[in-house]
Amino acid sequence: MKTILSGMRPSGKLHIGHLFGVLENWRKLQDSYRCYFEVADWHAMTTEYRNPRAIRQNTLEMVKDWLAAGIDPKRAVIFVQSRVPEHTELHIVFSMLVSLSRLLRNPTFKEYVGELKAKELKTSGRRVLDRLVEQTLDRILEVLQQEQQSHLSAKEYRSLLRARLKETVAEGLNRLFHTTEGEELSYGHLVNYGFLGYPVLQAADILLYKGEVVPVGEDQVPHIELTREIARRFNEYYAPIFPVPEPLLTRFPRVPGTDGKRMSKSRGNTILISEKPEDLAQKVRRMITDPQKIRRGDPGRPEICPVFALHRVFGTPDLEAIERDCRSGALGCVDCKKKLLSQIQAHLEPLQEKRAGISDAQVVEILEEGSRRAREVARRTMAEVHEALGLF
Ligand code: TRP
Repeated sequence: MKTILSGMRPSGKLHIGHLFGVLENWRKLQDSYRCYFEVADWHAMTTEYRNPRAIRQNTLEMVKDWLAAGIDPKRAVIFVQSRVPEHTELHIVFSMLVSLSRLLRNPTFKEYVGELKAKELKTSGRRVLDRLVEQTLDRILEVLQQEQQSHLSAKEYRSLLRARLKETVAEGLNRLFHTTEGEELSYGHLVNYGFLGYPVLQAADILLYKGEVVPVGEDQVPHIELTREIARRFNEYYAPIFPVPEPLLTRFPRVPGTDGKRMSKSRGNTILISEKPEDLAQKVRRMITDPQKIRRGDPGRPEICPVFALHRVFGTPDLEAIERDCRSGALGCVDCKKKLLSQIQAHLEPLQEKRAGISDAQVVEILEEGSRRAREVARRTMAEVHEALGLF
């Protein structure tokens, strides 16, 4: 049996994007691989370092969703990264095997820094503008005073004011562009050292368990590529102890949110696995449909309708009939949403029942036991690593 390692940052309650995109896949893989599923709480801390206490509760909520979706602690090792100290130890060994510029080129790093830059530019741009306005006011008042003393003609007054304003505005613009360019090169103060090492820690996660197959989304492929480079380098320098892992891409069509855009917490368009029936009903009721279909009888366009997209995701049985009747106008949006609601409810009900039956204490126990089992493997790998390095 090959070994799989995958993980998620504990972000709290999961939504159906996670369910169809990740958990369903993990569940199936449990039959044919030795599986390790990790709560990547150190990874969460790279961005949530100001509030690490929230990470614990998020861990419990997330793992309840894993269990509800059929991740089985008897078949897979479910563990918490921070409970297996060998992760941090291997991370530091690997940190010697990757260059700074390799990490600076990592797409997820560039993307994150890009977001921080945009935020910073907005505030620094506003600061420059505010200063410009103040300085302009100063100039106007200065010229006003001068005019009172010297009794300039209207024409002279105007040209004096114009000259002063030009000077001030030019100076301000100059500073704005200068700031923008200068700071392009020096955003280092915005991002912590730990975040730069994010993919190195991920390599340690995978290789500590000698993971050979890593089911991930497309965005994570560059991290697996870096893991492969690190494994090869370690094997070449010291001793050939690591496999060179392969990503396993899951091609599930993206799960649309209640607004038709990609489902994500930050967009506020999610349907949680644990969504309460009344909240679910409200979310479905408020979904937008084809804006050209105002009342029953109007022909609709299923291909642009978020409600139809969710029918597809949840595999509503009479999908062709829905499509046909939407197009002809025979099916109204209210009825179509009722069908969707009962389909989602039927799908989530067993998961929610299972979730409700799991207490915090049980999750803690599962994670303790899983982390203990993970640690046995991690210790063995670290012993080999020490042997290969030959330190004191
Ligand atoms: N970086 C992954 C993500 O954001 C989570 C993760 C951490 C992971 N360690 C891992 C995924 C190891 C696969 C293997 O989704």
